[in-house]
Amino acid sequence: MKEIVVSAEHKYSVKFVDGWRDQLPAIFTQYSNHLVLAPASLRELLELETVAGISGKIYYLPDGEDQKSTTVLAGLWDLAGELNLNRDSVVIGIGGGATTDLAGFFAATWLRGVDWFAFPTSLAGMVDAAVGGKTGINTSAGKNLVGSFHSPQGVIIDSGFLKTLPERDLCAGMAEVIKCGFISDPFILELVKDYQANLDELIFRAVAVKAKVVSEDFKESHLREILNYGHTLGHAIEKREKYSLRHGEAVSIGMIFAAQLSVDLAGLDQGVLEAHRALLSMLKLPITYSRGAFEELLGFMNNDKKRRDNALRFVGLSDLATPTWLESVTTPQLKAAYERICS
Ligand SMILES: NC(=O)c1ccc[n+]([C@@H]2O[C@H](COP(=O)([O-])OP(=O)(O)OC[C@H]3O[C@@H](n4cnc5c(N)ncnc54)[C@H](O)[C@@H]3O)[C@@H](O)[C@H]2O)c1
Repeated sequence: MKEIVVSAEHKYSVKFVDGWRDQLPAIFTQYSNHLVLAPASLRELLELETVAGISGKIYYLPDGEDQKSTTVLAGLWDLAGELNLNRDSVVIGIGGGATTDLAGFFAATWLRGVDWFAFPTSLAGMVDAAVGGKTGINTSAGKNLVGSFHSPQGVIIDSGFLKTLPERDLCAGMAEVIKCGFISDPFILELVKDYQANLDELIFRAVAVKAKVVSEDFKESHLREILNYGHTLGHAIEKREKYSLRHGEAVSIGMIFAAQLSVDLAGLDQGVLEAHRALLSMLKLPITYSRGAFEELLGFMNNDKKRRDNALRFVGLSDLATPTWLESVTTPQLKAAYERICS
């Protein structure tokens, strides 16, 4: 079994398994009590009731972003009280990134922090959400504004889950894999060309990139920002589209923009920008956006929670796998790059 160790507030392993169910009984035996969380939409697929030792302690959640709510969280706190979940209990989140974000945040807040494990079932969950210790929910103020750094005790990745993942979600998750290729591991970009055949290797390599970065800068003081490559414009597009696009789809356009800015301001070779276009469009991910949206997107970027020091800064590339920080980019520079990526 392959595994990758992440060093955060504690060390934990990301295990790559063939048979996720077999991992659960061993976790149950380490704790006095457990609660397994999963979206109701995956109930038939998971057949959790048949897992040895689970003893009915399963709670089904609404699907997608609906589960990342204060209402669902408050319901879990009530349930935790009824089940007497104590410090020696464990929370297990099985589902996409929304489920592991909620499960992790619930575990962070119950008794000021109990142990939890992530079993990601989507590609975005495997290569991004479940690894890195960021947990959170959405509120009326915005998406992911309430959260905590609370790393799991372990992440179990079984790529067999991806057989039932809709193609659109697979491709959206692949945008984050491609991001890892451009910022750190160019071999990923070769493997992506035949992504169906290379899925396991791609997941492993993308997790390795995230694990390395997170281990060096858990709380995102500087280096971890490279994982936000393509995300500044991506977040703005997600907001403008009222979250109707998948995160990876918005990040795909954002990466084209970040690469264009890098060509304009950091000497990135035009060929690397073209490689972004070729790979992302091969996966049917969007690579352009509406010309008239610039002012609105600029407003959203200026309000981004990740904005620091009152200036817009972008993660760019000076070369393949060589991230750089583009500081204080001016509005005319942003506009010029934006117009070049519009259709
Ligand atoms: N914590 C972090 O660092 C981090 C990083 C990236 C994204 N996220 C969060 O992750 C979420 C996005 O992740 P996501 O795309 O996995 O979202 P998601 O959990 O909403 O899953 C997307 C859809 O796929 C379905 N699904 C999941 N696994 C499936 C499977 N094996 N077969 C069939 N259907 C399946 C889900 O039920 C859902 O309908 C967002 O809430 C985002 O904020 C968090």
